[in-house]
This record gives sequence, structure tokens and C-alpha cells, in this order.
Amino acid sequence: MGKDVIVACDFASAEQTFAFLDRFTGRKPFVKIGMELFYAEGPAIVREIKRRGHKIFLDLKLHDIPNTVKKAMTVLRDLDVDITNLHAAGTCRMMEAALEGLTRPDGTRPLLIAVTQLTSTDQEAMEKDLLIREPIADVVAHYAMNARKAGLDGVVCSPLEAAGVHEACGKDFITVTPGVRFADGDVGDQKRVMTPAEAKRVGSDYIVVGRPITAAADPVAAYERCVREFCDD
Ligand code: C5P
Repeated sequence: MGKDVIVACDFASAEQTFAFLDRFTGRKPFVKIGMELFYAEGPAIVREIKRRGHKIFLDLKLHDIPNTVKKAMTVLRDLDVDITNLHAAGTCRMMEAALEGLTRPDGTRPLLIAVTQLTSTDQEAMEKDLLIREPIADVVAHYAMNARKAGLDGVVCSPLEAAGVHEACGKDFITVTPGVRFADGDVGDQKRVMTPAEAKRVGSDYIVVGRPITAAADPVAAYERCVREFCDD
């Protein structure tokens, strides 16, 4: 898999999602389906977006006891998505169980990546709410190393942490980075952000972009701008 822009389709219904995707004539953006859309529409939305020829990152961020996560992953593997994920905070045992559940009898499976610290969490929230006192960069690198030890393919992290993760886990360990904003755009609830061009410079493998594209006056132009900044030489 090469560098790509993944569009976070955080919509409330299939109708809104297809109205959005239909604007992309001739292009098939890599789509992220998150909790909002999946809970509203169920597995059918995944199958339909796949049928239309998009690659899919199914972002459900599983976090439960190992046995439950393993069984849930066995259900998800048959949806034939390209990437799915869980929380590294669920421990190495949970990640190993997830990988087992996700692997098909023929040995193939979607890529599995781990959320390190949400990009809406900053040092202060981590210390006050989670009682984790180490620097956030160290926490992210530690969670990434756990994910790699468990056999996962990469992590979700802030672009600010992508270089550190590659240093700790190797260049081939995938970094998928949300928290991307245009230099002239709104930050919203994201706290640790970078522009697409900066994310490229620090070595992100995929950027996940939601509102800067979905809420833009011209979403296709915003998508093209992301691709130009992030993917083009
Ligand atoms: O609209 P925005 O660009 O902030 O969307 C970012 C997307 O990435 C959202 O769907 C959010 O759930 C997801 N995400 C994130 N931070 C993480 C993991 C996923 O923002 N650490």
C-alpha cells in the first residue's frame, strides 16, 4: 500500500454518504467508515461502499476483553475491508487475540492497526483524566511497540508522532494519521494537528481527513488539495 488520503465519512446515514461520494466522478477515494455510520447503517453500508470500488478503513476502535474482541474481529473479517483497528490500551493479549480472530482460514486478513492516544487527547487530559504521567510521545511509542510485538501492521497516531513511531518500530510499520488540517482551516476539537504537506514531510503513510473535506464548500476540491499536498512529488 502506498501513501493515500483516507476520507472520514462521518455521516449519519447511507443517503448522506452516497450523496457525498457521488460527487467524486471518476475518482474512488479511500473511505473511512466510523462508528456513527456503522451503527446507523450496519454491515450493509460497508458492502455497498466496497461494491462501488472504494478501499475501506473500518474504524470501530475495538476495546474489550480478548475473547470478545477476537470474536468481533471474526465477524469483521468477512466484510473484506482493507484496514480495521482497535485500541492499543486494550493490552498485548487483546491485540494478539484480535489478530487471531481477523485471520481467515487461508491466512489472509485485513491490515490491523492500533489507536495509540486519540488525537483529541493532549498531555493535560492524559495526566488528569487517565493518570498517565509520561510524556505523550513516549506513551505513543510504547503503545506502538506493543502493537508491533503483538504482530499488528501499524498504528493510528497524530502526525506529530509519526516520525517517533517509525523510529521505534521501523519504516514499514504503518502510520495512519488523523488530526490533519489545512493551514488556513479550523482546528475544531482536534488538539494535535498538522497540514497534509507537513504530515507528508514527517513520514505519515496515510492521512485521515474528515471535516476539512466533508464540510468544505467544495469537497472534491478539498480532497484534490489534500492529495496534491500529501501524495504528489
Ligand atoms: O473531521 P476530522 O478530520 O477531525 O476527522 C478525523 C477522523 O479521524 C474522525 O473520524 C475521528 O474519529 C478519527 N480519529 C481521530 N483520532 C484518532 C483516531 C481516529 O481523529 N486517534
